[in-house]
Amino acid sequence: MSTPLPAPIDHSARYLQHLQACGFQAKPASAWDARAAQSSWKRRHDDYSEAFLARLALSGVATVLDVGCGPGLLSLPIAAQVSHVHALDYSTGMLDGLRAAITRKGVSNITPWALSWTDDWHDVPRCDLAIASRSLMVPDLEAALHKLDAHARQRACITFATGPRAGVPELAELLGRDWVPMPDHRYPINMLLDMGRAPRVNYLPESVRDLAQDANDLVIQVEKMFGNLDKRDQAAIRGWHATSPQHRLSMAPTCRWAMIDWETGTK
Ligand SMILES: C[S@@+](CC[C@H](N)C(=O)[O-])C[C@H]1O[C@@H](n2cnc3c(N)ncnc32)[C@H](O)[C@@H]1O
Repeated sequence: MSTPLPAPIDHSARYLQHLQACGFQAKPASAWDARAAQSSWKRRHDDYSEAFLARLALSGVATVLDVGCGPGLLSLPIAAQVSHVHALDYSTGMLDGLRAAITRKGVSNITPWALSWTDDWHDVPRCDLAIASRSLMVPDLEAALHKLDAHARQRACITFATGPRAGVPELAELLGRDWVPMPDHRYPINMLLDMGRAPRVNYLPESVRDLAQDANDLVIQVEKMFGNLDKRDQAAIRGWHATSPQHRLSMAPTCRWAMIDWETGTK
């Protein structure tokens, strides 16, 4: 008797189950509003935006849709190379930051759109290229990928986390805490394959550790991640911090980003 084929994998259902196992709660737009005001935003993201832009092919691209654009770290430099950028985000604070930069720099070819992944994008023009950089932590990832794909005439490009934030696995082990890593880039790759697309994967350089992080800040961050820390835990974290300047959390929420792009073929 021959072995039957395994049942097809429902990547969307598994992704949701994985998110739930991590205790994931979708962030409201207001959570991002507060972050937009942080003056450290640009400094913390410079390495990332350089690496992303260096790998983003823009030849033959006249229009770009940037979903989850934030304060425009990518929209602004991309706008200098194409005819028009449509920059979409659900956070008023982030869009205020983008509008301020547009005015400051006298940019005339970026249109901000106050919309979320789940809103109706009917009024947003389809663009040659659609990107979603670090903005895909949504419960219905498959729907988001379909939406991005449908809004891209030539190509779409996303970045997705590949693995835990540097420092977290070491600290979980040090404290003897159970901890489930967030879903990684395998999910969108599989979903894109199921959509009949041919995703290409590129890896951005490893995220840098926050070398300026002091021991008190580290203790606060670790408490946010793992919950209550007793005196022994706190001492262990301070000991870890003192061992080496590299014993810090990384700036980014992943050890490195996967940059995934694909032809949409929906001209
Ligand atoms: C880490 S920031 C990335 C900003 C920018 N794309 C970059 O890479 O520099 C994530 C952005 O996604 C936006 N975002 C998160 N969830 C969203 C949603 N459901 N709909 C629209 N925007 C969302 C946030 O407001 C935030 O501006």
